[in-house]
Amino acid sequence: MTTASAAGEAAPALGDAPSLAGAPSLREAPSAADVPLADAPLADAAPLADRLARARDGFLRAGVAADEAAADAEVLARHVLGWDRATYLARRRDPAPPSFEARYAPLATRRERREPVSTITGRREFWGLTFAVGPAVLTPRPETELIVETALALLRDRRDAPLAIADVGTGSGCLAVALAREFPRAAVTAVDISSAALTVARRNAVLHGVSDRITWVEAPLADWLAGPAPDGRGAGDGNTGTDLLVANLPYVPTGELASLPPEVRLHEPSIALDGGPDGLDPLRELLRAVPSGLNRGARVLVEIGMGQANAVRALAAAAGVELLDIRPDLRGIPRAAVIAAGRD
Ligand SMILES: C[S@@+](CC[C@H](N)C(=O)[O-])C[C@H]1O[C@@H](n2cnc3c(N)ncnc32)[C@H](O)[C@@H]1O
Repeated sequence: MTTASAAGEAAPALGDAPSLAGAPSLREAPSAADVPLADAPLADAAPLADRLARARDGFLRAGVAADEAAADAEVLARHVLGWDRATYLARRRDPAPPSFEARYAPLATRRERREPVSTITGRREFWGLTFAVGPAVLTPRPETELIVETALALLRDRRDAPLAIADVGTGSGCLAVALAREFPRAAVTAVDISSAALTVARRNAVLHGVSDRITWVEAPLADWLAGPAPDGRGAGDGNTGTDLLVANLPYVPTGELASLPPEVRLHEPSIALDGGPDGLDPLRELLRAVPSGLNRGARVLVEIGMGQANAVRALAAAAGVELLDIRPDLRGIPRAAVIAAGRD
């Protein structure tokens, strides 16, 4: 099952950025902030839906994708009002409640400046759970749910086993937390090079009641995979004893970073995006070290970018691991590589 993410919180997939041709530059984008609040139309008396239509039009003029603009206007309004979708649909023809405009307008302005909805609201749905997000982490993407879905399919007979699961490049912790929830007896190790990201991930683990089963490791993946140094010091236990290793590492080629949409380029950390010259440096590093210590029958699940499937096949062969499958996402793009890296 792939759970749908909340409407209107779509974020561009990584490595398959839509063309920005024709999008106005940020400096040219009309800004609601230029309109003093006192001069703003009496939105409180007009139907809510009319105000949202104006917001949608502003987003479209700023270059927000046509299939996102209306949903974004709604998500921001519901965030301000604390309404679920059903309440919004029932009340959208009512006049906007008092003080709505004063709270909505600044958020709409931020969206016109191409800040993602997720960093404006500070949260994002993933696998049916709400995650705190912010500038320190990549906003979880719907296609990454395929990793959770694949893990469930591979380990369907071991849901209640005391598995050891590792999430390398945990970011917001979306995979670590979702897997900890799905495998209630698993011990999860979550690794990230960014201490700011780990702070967000820890918060999400607490939010979802799984923090007691997640060990946090702040380290470059190569250090963690190498395990403790001979003198006993080191980043962690490496992958020794791991049953399932998941990784959604940066995979955007460095040369493509500049052409990513502003939502990604300006508002997501480059350390979560930049995969080196061909986008595959982090995966190369992972595969170089991963075969050594995994448990018998263990699997490695890795998210890959659009157009990287053949290169990933070659990398797996060079690393001496068996690439079992590359599962497509909902758009048919080969996305989740399934690798047998343990001693089968
Ligand atoms: C693409 S984000 C994925 C975040 C999260 N797993 C998700 O699926 O939304 C990649 C994460 O890998 C981390 N990262 C990048 N290079 C790393 C490295 N060499 N070692 C460990 N973590 C790294 C980044 O800080 C970032 O949080």
